[in-house]
Amino acid sequence: MITREQCAALDAADPLAHCRARFNLPADTIYLDGNSLGAMPANVPARMKTALEDEWAHGLIRSWNDADWYPAPQRTGNKIAKLIGAGPGEVIVADSTSVNLFKVLVAATRMRAERRVILAERTNFPTDVYIASSVAQMTGCELRCVDPEEVMSSIDDSVAVVSLTHVNYKSGKRYDMEAVTRKAHEAGALIVWDLCHSAGAMPVHLNGCEADFAVGCGYKYLNGGPGAPAYVFVAKRHLADLNQPLTGWHGHAKPFEFTHDYAPHAGIDRMLTGTAPQLGVIALEAALEAFEGVDLEVLRAKSVALGNLMIELADQHLAGLGCTLASPRDAGQRGSQVSLAHAEGYAVMQALIARKVIGDFRAPDILRFGFAPLYVRYADIWDTVSALKDILETCAWDNEAFHARKSVT
Ligand SMILES: Cc1ncc(COP(=O)(O)O)c(C=O)c1O
Repeated sequence: MITREQCAALDAADPLAHCRARFNLPADTIYLDGNSLGAMPANVPARMKTALEDEWAHGLIRSWNDADWYPAPQRTGNKIAKLIGAGPGEVIVADSTSVNLFKVLVAATRMRAERRVILAERTNFPTDVYIASSVAQMTGCELRCVDPEEVMSSIDDSVAVVSLTHVNYKSGKRYDMEAVTRKAHEAGALIVWDLCHSAGAMPVHLNGCEADFAVGCGYKYLNGGPGAPAYVFVAKRHLADLNQPLTGWHGHAKPFEFTHDYAPHAGIDRMLTGTAPQLGVIALEAALEAFEGVDLEVLRAKSVALGNLMIELADQHLAGLGCTLASPRDAGQRGSQVSLAHAEGYAVMQALIARKVIGDFRAPDILRFGFAPLYVRYADIWDTVSALKDILETCAWDNEAFHARKSVT
């Protein structure tokens, strides 16, 4: 049996333990939902105060130049690039993941005009499928959605673009990015990776895998705050030919010449559409300082260890209590979360949250526990399983208040 003392010893030896102080977290709360909304980095409030009181209130419009607001999407993109294996000038912060996915999917289908299939996956996050479906309709393509285990065998020479999420939002199952990208390229297709559940939780090697495009959000493991702007990656080799559909003035080669005709910017700026949500970009840029000096291999090693611990403790304490593992047992196939299935998952999660252990629920029956390695402790995992065991044994979840569905689950 793994004891709490053993978990505390792992925390004492954790090379990332000092990073927890980089976040403002309530002392009485265990937070295992950084895969949905990252915790607030401690430096963000002061940065926002300056942005609001000095740069906006006092600097007014001058701050676009004087406070270097204008190049913030590029600057922040370059910081994210380091976390996802991209080069300078290949990543920019803009819009939401959904909107960026729309832009790259249309651009990719235009680059493979002779092919008419967008290959996607049935268990992907719904927005990815909804956007792909609309892109298919608009571009006259067929959207072919297959089961995860059929992805590799479905990549053939009819496919224009393969659109996948690296780590599945529900199961935490992780694709072999290198192998799938290679297969897509061998078939002459392009690939788009959604990195929402990978960036900031593990190293990603976009250029190492020769990926074509990627998108991801700023509010999960990157800790940019609720509704933080997203980012988009375009491999340098594609930039010159890239024809994205949302041609707004910020993507123009010379936005402040206000010309009638559209001429795309030569670089990654062509992925921009309109004005950046500047306060959100500033918060995200500041939040990324939490990764300073962090070795992403060490981050991944901790993420794997936290996940393995959760699974071992669940095996030891939750057997026979109605919970089953809904994530891969093999860490090599897993992202930075462990999901458990329980028929009363919603109420069980509400009961946990009432005890200040925060994960989330995904219909129909998934309890999700995400491990942001910068601030989650091994003892948190022990305390979570202990609370869960008690809730299941005593049926504490079977309470009217815990059954009432809130808008966000
Ligand atoms: C895989 C994935 N893609 C996209 C999104 C959401 O995208 P958006 O930033 O457009 O809300 C999520 C949100 O949880 C997600 O898990």
